[in-house]
Amino acid sequence: MKEKIEAFFRDFISCLQIAKLYTTGHPRFDKFLNQAYQSLSEILKDREEVLFGIVGDELAFEKEIFFDLSRTVSPVITYLKERGIEKISFRRGVKAEELRKFIDFLVLSKDEIKTDVAEYFAASGIEAISAGRLQTDAAKDDQGAGIDYQKIFAGAAGEIAQVIGSIISGDEPRIVNFRFSIKHLMESLLKQDKEIMMLSTIKRYDPGTFVHSLNVSILSMYIASKAGFSREDCLETGIASIFHDIGKLYISRKIIRKKGGLTTEEFTEMKSHATLGGEIMLNYTQGLGILPVVVCLEHHLRYDQKGYPKRRFLCTPHIASLIVSLCDVYDSLSQRRSYKNDYPPDLVYGLMSKERGSYFDPGLFDLFFKIVGVWPIGSIVALSDLRTAVVREENSEDIFLPKVEIIGSPGKREFVDLRQENSGLKIIKFLNPWTEGKQFLAEVRRIDSSEKNRHKIF
Ligand SMILES: [Fe+2]
Ligand SMILES: [Fe+2]
Repeated sequence: MKEKIEAFFRDFISCLQIAKLYTTGHPRFDKFLNQAYQSLSEILKDREEVLFGIVGDELAFEKEIFFDLSRTVSPVITYLKERGIEKISFRRGVKAEELRKFIDFLVLSKDEIKTDVAEYFAASGIEAISAGRLQTDAAKDDQGAGIDYQKIFAGAAGEIAQVIGSIISGDEPRIVNFRFSIKHLMESLLKQDKEIMMLSTIKRYDPGTFVHSLNVSILSMYIASKAGFSREDCLETGIASIFHDIGKLYISRKIIRKKGGLTTEEFTEMKSHATLGGEIMLNYTQGLGILPVVVCLEHHLRYDQKGYPKRRFLCTPHIASLIVSLCDVYDSLSQRRSYKNDYPPDLVYGLMSKERGSYFDPGLFDLFFKIVGVWPIGSIVALSDLRTAVVREENSEDIFLPKVEIIGSPGKREFVDLRQENSGLKIIKFLNPWTEGKQFLAEVRRIDSSEKNRHKIF
């Protein structure tokens, strides 16, 4: 029975992911829907009802917890929990059409769900399925805890690790899970940009293996959306950017981590990661499209058409490559690695602005810093009056003067718009979260985790 239940749930989740990524009209959707419906009908021959629950972050059926399955589908579990779905019950007599309608319901965005779940089901003719919250004490405490951005971020990093790991070992990557997870991240980013951007600023100092890929992806999707790309194009840009440096996995670690300059031979080997990456990604165009190939090949080709690899005919790189190259350089300069220091944001800006119009497309460069600011959201900074603050919102009119929140104000929260004429304050120093800024991280997290404080500040 356990195997049957697991098989059903896998197919059910595949239906949901395909419906979310494409539509319920996709041919693969019907295939998984039929499979899921077959196994469900089998299971319901022996029992009146099958009830699934989400307990914590795990998927449970009766007293059994499916740990392995939960790990594989963790982005879907986070997604369901965000929609207030912690239990799903299927009853004998359920029709395939009801299963389809239920999935239609699950892919609606939260803003589209105007009515109560039970009302929605009644109106759409879903009779033998119900879904909702588990009314345990823990679940009640969990209500209103809102979206867990850390989990969305970690889920996406886990899927990236899985896909890249499979590409290296020659196994079949879980592309649908991967796309689903990045799409979920993108939707949260474009709706609640501050939360994800803040997480990305903090994680920029995290030495995790795929954090750079994920950060470049977040920045690229964000810039692409602000540049007016459609949702689909933002997603494709974000997905392509994840693989920009995949060719580096085949370059000697010694060269990648070398602190000083590279010899001519070493530099030639290093540069080969662009073409190598393009060749690797050519094997995955079916699930990932052609853009990862283009971005791998072009992310070191500059706006002025210099850079590498050398081409026989010059032409401007694809706009997705230009975006990724900006975000890549920005994140790499900001990141700390065992073999390199991180640079404070004002120095990163200074270094990059020297390349405006040569390495970087000037329009994209201006848009990037207008959005990200010199001091990104979530940065801990020292002010000219010697108080410490955290950056809360950028000022697109003056990228040096964001809106900040003072850390350690007794009693109440204090916000300062540094651009206001009479504030007279400015940022004098960035406090690195690994060193001088570390002592303030706990306080910033405490303020952020307080639900009532999540509402708009300015
Ligand atoms: Fe690269
Ligand atoms: Fe990179």
